[in-house]
Amino acid sequence: MKASAIARANIALVKYWGKRDEALVLPHNSSLSMTLDGLTATSTVEFGGRDQDQVQIDGRFLDGDDLARVVRILDLVRLRASLDARARVSSRTDFPKAAGLASSAAGFAALAAASAWAAGMNLSAQELSVLARHGSGSACRSVEGGFCEWRRGERNDGEDSFAVQVAPPDHWPDLRMVVAICSSEPKKVSSRDAMKRCVETSPYFAAWAAAAEAAVSAAREAVLARDLVALGQIAERNAFQMHACALAADPPVQYLLPSTLAVIEAVLTMRAGGTPVYCTLDAGPNPVVLIDATHLSRLEIRLGGMPGLEKLVPCAPGGGVAPAERAVF
Ligand code: PMV
Repeated sequence: MKASAIARANIALVKYWGKRDEALVLPHNSSLSMTLDGLTATSTVEFGGRDQDQVQIDGRFLDGDDLARVVRILDLVRLRASLDARARVSSRTDFPKAAGLASSAAGFAALAAASAWAAGMNLSAQELSVLARHGSGSACRSVEGGFCEWRRGERNDGEDSFAVQVAPPDHWPDLRMVVAICSSEPKKVSSRDAMKRCVETSPYFAAWAAAAEAAVSAAREAVLARDLVALGQIAERNAFQMHACALAADPPVQYLLPSTLAVIEAVLTMRAGGTPVYCTLDAGPNPVVLIDATHLSRLEIRLGGMPGLEKLVPCAPGGGVAPAERAVF
């Protein structure tokens, strides 16, 4: 009744932004991401021997809403496995301290797999993706490695809303997503709250969702063709559309710092100078630069010493969820 799983973070090239069903975590639009190597979460789950679920992340005990999100996954597993036992859960992340990167996608993908395996269930990638989605939407794209597409689905029960792999990590080993850390502070508005506000108040929300849905198939084709120029254009435009939608919400959701804009400007200048380089931006101030490995040092030189830029974290495509070699406890 004990199992451990490891999973990795992913960054969306076409973003998930806005739920059509808050409780089931069903998105308005499909999305597409790259699973990163390196930024991992390991989760160990053991059922039995206690009368309450107990959850720790990097040594800290969870309570309130954070605990409830984990218990939600455990409850789904218990229901499916006809199990009554409470669980001990402990997760560890290897995200660089103060990386300013959300670990929830990696964490919930690892939790979904470890809890299913601890309950003795051998779920398919699709079933694990549905399970992980209930913890955090983007987590459904970290079950598989490489490039993954989360199809929004049509059903009200959400059973057709899961991520599928478009291409494995070795399809495009030279692509890099370089996270430019402009701030490692926790963000002022969580993705969850910000996207809800956009759905409810942004006059641009419908246009955002329609444009993002259309961008997914173009992004999939660009990934399959390993076409950095096409993929970069789609990803950059999609990120700006998401932020425009957020800026138009009431009250506005504004994540950009002066250093965020300075990195974006530097990327645009490099591109005007002939280097194929593009950027995307999640719900936070840290741009993620898309570039081929051969041009990485050029980017590092260009951005090196820029005021307000704390650090660059280059990531290659990484693998999907797998049994962890070492348990957390
Ligand atoms: O899965 P959440 O609730 O952390 O939301 C993720 C939202 C974005 O990171 C902005 C976009 C995405 O698709 O990952």
